[in-house]
Formats: sequence, structure tokens, C-alpha cells
Amino acid sequence: MRETWVVGAASNRYGKMTETAREAATRVALEAIRDAGLEPKQIGHTFVANCFGLAEHQAHVGPLINNGLGIPEVPSVTLESACSSSSAALHEAFVHVAGGFADAALVVGAERLGHLDTLAATSYFAIAADYAFETKNGATFPGLYATLASAYRDVYKTTPEMLGSIAIKNHANAARNPHAHFQKEISMETYLASPLIASPLRLYDCCPFSDGAAALVVAAKEAMPRPTNEPLVVRASARAGAVTDMQDRPDLLGLPSTRAAAAAAFRQARMTPKEIDFLEVHDCFTIAEVLALEDLGFFPKGTAAKESADGVTARDGRLPVNPSGGLKAKGHPVSATGAGQVVEVFEQVNGRAPGREVPRSGTALTHNVGATGGSCSVHIFSRR
Ligand SMILES: CC(C)(COP(=O)(O)OP(=O)(O)OC[C@H]1O[C@@H](n2cnc3c(N)ncnc32)[C@H](O)[C@@H]1OP(=O)(O)O)[C@@H](O)C(=O)NCCC(=O)NCCS
Repeated sequence: MRETWVVGAASNRYGKMTETAREAATRVALEAIRDAGLEPKQIGHTFVANCFGLAEHQAHVGPLINNGLGIPEVPSVTLESACSSSSAALHEAFVHVAGGFADAALVVGAERLGHLDTLAATSYFAIAADYAFETKNGATFPGLYATLASAYRDVYKTTPEMLGSIAIKNHANAARNPHAHFQKEISMETYLASPLIASPLRLYDCCPFSDGAAALVVAAKEAMPRPTNEPLVVRASARAGAVTDMQDRPDLLGLPSTRAAAAAAFRQARMTPKEIDFLEVHDCFTIAEVLALEDLGFFPKGTAAKESADGVTARDGRLPVNPSGGLKAKGHPVSATGAGQVVEVFEQVNGRAPGREVPRSGTALTHNVGATGGSCSVHIFSRR
């Protein structure tokens, strides 16, 4: 395999977009290509994530993005892996570049559902669960993650304040991130006073419905003699799957696909969790951040919520987690989310995260889950 780098990155501000997903994807893709010091014609393959294009009456968006970039002849494919779609696209780009099938590849994820109300957006999202056994019987993602949160609380005795500390931390980080949907801090009082959405999860335990777009350029080291930015060396690009339905899982105290993807990633990178400086993890609900930190191997089972409440995962703590604000507060435009996590790593490493810098940025891990864990991607990056 060839040494493979992320050499350019761009994102818009998450929240409500006036552009369509296609327009936003094309614009951030061009920004990422220019950021890498490349021209569109140097892109050998485009990997697109746009799960809910049908909500905008648009499928097969890859060729349209390439047309907009002036490279209609370049192959493209749209990947769907629920909330982990653009990290799946990054994995495919990595495989192409590391395997020598392209010198440079574009990864772009975009989603727009902001024109729908909460009920319609919730219904669209819920089709990423098992329609026959979960969705048709009324399951929604807040409900499914509330089931995980209740199971965890009953065994490990988490308090509302422990989950609240994660929401407060991620809002504080997002308040310093110009790409974030919510750029406001919240207090414990605000958290505790917020309405229950699906017990025990409150409003501030949930990620919002966000529109957004994020793009990355992945290139072979040998094709980039003079990179314009400090590249991210892709040390590992691993994916895993697991049983999707809650009723068929051996327990509800973690996500097996995170454990499997993490084990594969640390093996590929020949690294251990102790060597990672900071993380962007999939915190679609605060409980998801707790499960991620344990399943990735950073904390023993049953301890991550308390460690978070003790400040260990704060931006200036021992292990900064979600300096971007995470899905919780930076936002969760489903198909842009995985690429957007890597944009944060790129900005941290390139000194483009003023006001929210982590103390050490030599190595980083990104973790992106599809739905309630049917799929998962883990990437590990380091400086050269
Ligand atoms: C939590 C949730 C139900 C709230 O929706 P809602 O009750 O219809 O809220 P609204 O859109 O009417 O917004 C009401 C207010 O709360 C804010 N808000 C909405 N969702 C929020 C969230 N998740 N966190 C913080 N604030 C939120 C809005 O900005 C708005 O604030 P304002 O009055 O100051 O303008 C919705 O955001 C949700 O379902 N989130 C989860 C999305 C999801 O499942 N994603 C997939 C994960 S796998």
C-alpha cells in the first residue's frame, strides 16, 4: 500500500442551508481541492455521500458534482452507510489511493433536510433502522438511543449530571467553532431544565437536525512532492459491521461494531489508545459519546461518563474529545458528518482552529457510527 494523506479539507457552517446539497457539495469540494493546491482535473475518482438526496428529488449526485467541477469524465459513486456515509466514502478513497488506482480522490458528503419539519425529518432518519422490526413499530433514533441510555444507567448508575457534562463540554467547544450549528454555551441548569425527548434523554442530550457539507482530498504521498498544508497521514482506515436490531444483541451496554473497527484500526496503525492525542467521536446523543470512549478502548466499561464529568475529556483535559463540538453541538448533517470530523482534525493540525486548539495534535482518531451501530468507521491520523 502507498502512504496516503489527507491534503485538503473544507466545510460550510452546519445549520440551515439555503443551497441544495448538490450545490453545497460542489462548492466545498472546490474549496477542498484548492486548499490542497490542486486543480479539479487532478482528481481521479469522486466518492460522494448523500443519504437523503431523495428528500430533494435528487439521486446520482456524483456526476452532477463532477460536472460542476468541470470534470464530467471522472468516475464517481454515491455511498450510503447511514450516519457513517462519508467516513465510508473516505475509506473507499483511501483504498483507491493506497492501492494505486488513483493518485488523488475527492470525498464529499452533504445533506439537506432543514426544509422538512421535525416529524418528517425523524421519519426519514428512521428508515436507517430496521424497517420491518424497528421503524414500522414506531422506533426513532432518539427512542433507540434512549433504550441504550436506560440499559447503561441501570447497570452503571449514571446520573443526569454525568450526561449533562458531555452536552455542556460539546456546546462550549462548538461555541468556538465557526462551522458549528450551535455556537452557544449551556449551563447545567439549562441542561437539567430542558424537556425530556425520550427518557432519560433530554433536548440537550440530542444532536440537532443539521444541513451541511464537508469535503476532503486524499492523495498519495508520492503524488504530492510539495503539499500546501501539513498533511494528515492516514495510519488506519477500518470499518466494521454488527447486528442492527436491538432485540438480537447480546447486550445493550456498547456497540460491537465500534469495538471491531477500533481493534482493526489500532492493529493497522500499530498503535494503542494511549498514543492518541485527541478524538472526534460519534456523539449523536450524549450516551453515544460514553459508549464510544469505552468501546474504542480509552476507558474501562462503566467509567467514561464519570471521567467526562471530571473534565478528563475537556478541550484542555488529558484526552480532548470532540473539540469541534461533536454531533451534539457542531451538528449532524448525516452524510457530511464523518468527513466533517476529519475537517476538524485537519484544522487542528494546520493551526486553523483558533480559540479551540487542543494541547497536542500529533495523532488523532475519528469514529463514525451508522444508525445504532450496524456500521462503523474508525480512522487514525498522524502528522508526518
Ligand atoms: C431533539 C429534537 C426532537 C428537537 O426537535 P424539536 O422539539 O422539534 O425542536 P425545534 O426544532 O422545534 O427547536 C426548538 C428549539 O430547540 C433548539 N433545538 C432543537 N434541537 C436541538 C438540539 N438537539 N440541541 C439543542 N437545541 C436544539 C432549536 O434551535 C430551537 O431553539 P430556538 O427556540 O432558540 O430557536 C430534534 O432535534 C431531534 O430529533 N434530534 C435528533 C436527531 C436524530 O435523531 N439524528 C440521528 C441520530 S442517529
